[in-house]
Amino acid sequence: MLVTGATGQVGAPVAERLVEVAEVWAVARFSDPAARERLERVGVRCVVGDLESGDFDNVPADVDYVLDFAVAKTNDFDRDLRANGEGLGLLMQRCAAARAFLHCSSTAVYQPDGHRAFVETDPLGDNHRPFGFMPTYSIAKISAEVVARFAARAYELPTTIARLSVPYGDDFGWPRFHLAMIEAGKPIPVHPNAPSVYNPIHVDDIVRSIPALLGAATVPATIVNWAGNDQVSIEEWCAHLAAVAGRTAQFAPTAHTIESVACDVTKFIDIAGPNQVHWRDGLTRMATRR
Ligand SMILES: NC(=O)c1ccc[n+]([C@@H]2O[C@H](COP(=O)([O-])OP(=O)(O)OC[C@H]3O[C@@H](n4cnc5c(N)ncnc54)[C@H](OP(=O)(O)O)[C@@H]3O)[C@@H](O)[C@H]2O)c1
Repeated sequence: MLVTGATGQVGAPVAERLVEVAEVWAVARFSDPAARERLERVGVRCVVGDLESGDFDNVPADVDYVLDFAVAKTNDFDRDLRANGEGLGLLMQRCAAARAFLHCSSTAVYQPDGHRAFVETDPLGDNHRPFGFMPTYSIAKISAEVVARFAARAYELPTTIARLSVPYGDDFGWPRFHLAMIEAGKPIPVHPNAPSVYNPIHVDDIVRSIPALLGAATVPATIVNWAGNDQVSIEEWCAHLAAVAGRTAQFAPTAHTIESVACDVTKFIDIAGPNQVHWRDGLTRMATRR
């Protein structure tokens, strides 16, 4: 099994857990050597690959499954389209003999529309633009989906494009960032069209659902939201985190942040079954461990 982006927030815990059940090859540039050491210590085999240059010479071409968690966020449109679009296509070409390819996309591809719970066929748009500091993100993720759709058909490579909502674990994710802000007494940006609603999904459920998502891979690609059972607002999860941490959450409404991106999870639950970690339990664990 090949895991790209295996040094990242989501890819690292996934690669580290899957090594218990599969031979795992990690691909990244390993810009942080300590991240490579952590993976190798638990038995993950690391090879350097670069989406931007398209250099995948070290990547084994005969893997059975690919989990694609790599994402380039340089904020330069040319570089990010080259890496997330062209690079993805070249990786799929190299791994065209795989049984299934899981491309991790994002619910950042949806056109904001108030509190609508997005289904997979809903309109796409530049959802992260108002956020300011990730100007290329939504467009690069949409572009990557197009390339994955093309490559699935061109190489007859069964593919699932799974649009991840808000991933989190004990020590990573947007809620983890909010917890640090609460502890520092900083107000948390929320959209004025309150509340700011998402479907956070715990890393346990991300890992649990991977075999089913690989099993759902098809040509043309299957597209599915990858998200928690419940629609939860930032306001709600921050109040919960603050209560566990014995603090108070403060909010700063601003249009310069992401609007709600709630998801319809009917298709995901049909594929992978309901998620097991309730958001309150997952966040309690996070705040308690911290
Ligand atoms: N985190 C979230 O809240 C969130 C929400 C929704 C969806 N997602 C999606 O989940 C996936 C994982 O996101 P993440 O937050 O874990 O990302 P991340 O922490 O930013 O990690 C990005 C990964 O991609 C690798 N990478 C970056 N540029 C590369 C390049 N040119 N060539 C090869 N590898 C490269 C990085 O490793 P090196 O720097 O060592 O190469 C790293 O392993 C992405 O598809 C993302 O869009 C994330």
